Amino acid sequence: MAENGFFRDKVALVTGSSRGIGKAVALSFAKAGADVVVNHSKAEGSSKRKAEEVCREIEGLGRSALAVAADIASKASVGEMIEAVSGWRGRLDFLVLNAARAPFKPLEKMLERDMRQLFEINYMGNLFCIQKALPLLEAARGRIVFISSLGSRFYNPAYPLGSMKAAMEAVVRDCTESLAERGVCANAVCGGIVKTDSFRVLRQHMEELENIPEELCVSPESLAEVVLFLCSPAAGGIRGQTLVVDNGLSNRLYRPAWVSRTKSK
Ligand SMILES: NC(=O)c1ccc[n+]([C@@H]2O[C@H](COP(=O)([O-])OP(=O)(O)OC[C@H]3O[C@@H](n4cnc5c(N)ncnc54)[C@H](OP(=O)(O)O)[C@@H]3O)[C@@H](O)[C@H]2O)c1
Repeated sequence: MAENGFFRDKVALVTGSSRGIGKAVALSFAKAGADVVVNHSKAEGSSKRKAEEVCREIEGLGRSALAVAADIASKASVGEMIEAVSGWRGRLDFLVLNAARAPFKPLEKMLERDMRQLFEINYMGNLFCIQKALPLLEAARGRIVFISSLGSRFYNPAYPLGSMKAAMEAVVRDCTESLAERGVCANAVCGGIVKTDSFRVLRQHMEELENIPEELCVSPESLAEVVLFLCSPAAGGIRGQTLVVDNGLSNRLYRPAWVSRTKSK
């Protein structure tokens, strides 16, 4: 989305924006004129380095950026992150709940620690972010966008994260109702196949993914465009909804032969 007056000088916090889809969302906000808080999980190593690189790209676009290391599964870390946001620009207009991490194994093989990680990062972590950011979002009449995936509605043997995505799509609807009086609204973007780091790991557990044709995959940038749309005034009437952005992958069970001849790379 090209720069327009609406996003200028507003502030977006994108969880997990050191790489992948989150990075594309952070850069899209900057291109539209917003300043961006780039959240990543660890205060050192490649996590920190990549977040700083994203900040430099944002600054190269003429906008301000702040990298904040915070594991969203920790309520205390999330509290410190929101304090940092408040101290930086004193406002928060858009909260994008993008960060995710999960084991790749069927539900019946999950260890207790896998289950706790799944739930603590991908459900509780998102709720911590909403709870702690609420005063700032309320002051700005802000918007929340959650990044979901097709796992919320289709079975995948190596993807227990799907059940958390389904739960979060319900949270998006419920929060929109419970926060309506406070002027805060939430929506979700349910992405199809996006070739990021997490896709490359999932591919090791599901060889079938190699057969998905390139034209049925989605770019991080095309998901980011829809996130920005949901934060724009044009989407003011969309509340508590999940928009599927998957290049039509989920539209049909069977495809004509010409589609499967075009293999993904
Ligand atoms: N890839 C797909 O095909 C696809 C499709 C639909 C939806 N999605 C969803 O889109 C989102 C991004 O996916 P992706 O493929 O871009 O993932 P990715 O490349 O694996 O990047 C994950 C990001 O989340 C951060 N992160 C992980 N755990 C965190 C935690 N506990 N606290 C804070 N940050 C944390 C990572 O930070 P570090 O750099 O510090 O590790 C990184 O910035 C996820 O919600 C995913 O489920 C992905």
